[in-house]
Amino acid sequence: MAKPRSEYVCQSCGSVFPKWAGRCEACGAWNTLVEELSGGTGTPGGLGARPKARGKGRRVSFVGLKGEGATVARWVSGIAEFDRVTGGGLVPGSAVLVGGDPGIGKSTLLLQAAAALASNSGRPCAYVSGEEAIDQVRLRAERLGVTDAPVELASATSVRDLLDALDRPDGEGPGVVVIDSIQTMFVDTLESAPGTVAQVRASAQELIRLAKARGFVLLLVGHVTKEGMIAGPKVLEHMVDAVLTFEGERGHQFRILRTTKNRFGPTDEIGVFEMTERGLLEVANPSALFLAERRGEVSGASVFAGLEGTRPVLVEIQALVAPSSLGTPRRAVVGWDSGRLAMVLAVLEARCGLTFAGQDVYLNVAGGLRISEPAADLAVAAALVSALVDRPVPAEAVVFGEIGLAGEVRAVSQADQRLKEAAKLGFERAFMPPRRGKAGKAAPAEGALEILEIGHLQDLVETLSTVSPDAPMRRQA
Ligand code: TYD
Ligand code: MG
Repeated sequence: MAKPRSEYVCQSCGSVFPKWAGRCEACGAWNTLVEELSGGTGTPGGLGARPKARGKGRRVSFVGLKGEGATVARWVSGIAEFDRVTGGGLVPGSAVLVGGDPGIGKSTLLLQAAAALASNSGRPCAYVSGEEAIDQVRLRAERLGVTDAPVELASATSVRDLLDALDRPDGEGPGVVVIDSIQTMFVDTLESAPGTVAQVRASAQELIRLAKARGFVLLLVGHVTKEGMIAGPKVLEHMVDAVLTFEGERGHQFRILRTTKNRFGPTDEIGVFEMTERGLLEVANPSALFLAERRGEVSGASVFAGLEGTRPVLVEIQALVAPSSLGTPRRAVVGWDSGRLAMVLAVLEARCGLTFAGQDVYLNVAGGLRISEPAADLAVAAALVSALVDRPVPAEAVVFGEIGLAGEVRAVSQADQRLKEAAKLGFERAFMPPRRGKAGKAAPAEGALEILEIGHLQDLVETLSTVSPDAPMRRQA
């Protein structure tokens, strides 16, 4: 057996160095190198371990793409928001990482999911907590009203003990295993502390291997570091089949479950939940929730008809433009990309002659949603212009469209879906890009919506600064 030796592992990117340094040469992070003893024991995390060649290998036989594979049923929880995000249910033998800030509700979500999965399938699910004692988890289960579900509960941190308990013949063990959290697990062949890269990697590897062998679904909770990365580190995201992030703003009661990777389904799906004193409730109509606190016709607000995955979501975008006392005016953004805001401001200045110099600009996506779609450009511009000229965007209007650097407004995908959702929620007008090739054709989905095509940002500025909110706005073609 090789002698254990020290090596220095970057806790941010996982690179290994023979010597300590203040800065990781691979990723440039400071103070992230931590001494770890390489196992030399052949454990998966034993970084220095090199497997000995054991004679000739077995020949691998290749097969065609088409073939008779048993299609296995997915594990469906019956919580629609959760099932959608997992791509229609969890695939047996897969590993799913659920990341999120501390206190956001990961343990709550997974306990509810485990209970639902167990009740729905009749097969027990296991919930292993490395952070809380049995009594604490029971207390929570009571609060959530799931005590009757066939969930096997354990409080453990040793992967070896866990593997021992979970390695049961097919069909006898639990169908879904929740590990809360992977940062608390450790394998005893490694010297380093739980939570270090080597431990997280080794623990995950052992658990994933057993999940594949026994066909259970492994749900791993992963903590998120200050920088917003799942701690310990990218390698973990590569090892699992799906990565879900659970996010939300503290102080807001709703939470969003988002897919960032899924080998068995689409990414970019979201599930919306509301945190209540009795746990997480599904929100079937997020648009209504995000718009609930809207205050009618005020300047500096517009409603963006967005799309999250396959689902249209309406959300209010708020802007505030105020004289600045600073040499360099402030540009603050919550819920959107600040680079994108800078671009929209630059286009408004250069192409429409508006001035934001000497003004602080604040932009907020109401309700704590994070938007990444370029289609929000036009809604942001509408909120900004409305704030600057102090005239409200008509309250019955939704806005969407991508803005180009010349000030042109570009078409975005799934316009019909956006319009349909807007009509469903009682909106009457839509500011949107010109529809290519649709002239004359009746679009089936737009329903009663009055469409106002905005070809250039200048059109938007003119419309907002001249038209009174109640006047009919249909322009003659
Ligand atoms: P928790 O699931 O412990 O978060 P995490 O595992 O991500 O750290 O949830 C923590 C918060 O959720 C806590 O501040 C209390 C709140 N909460 C409720 O509001 N209602 C509930 O029914 C439960 C169980 C928790
Ligand atoms: Mg927790």
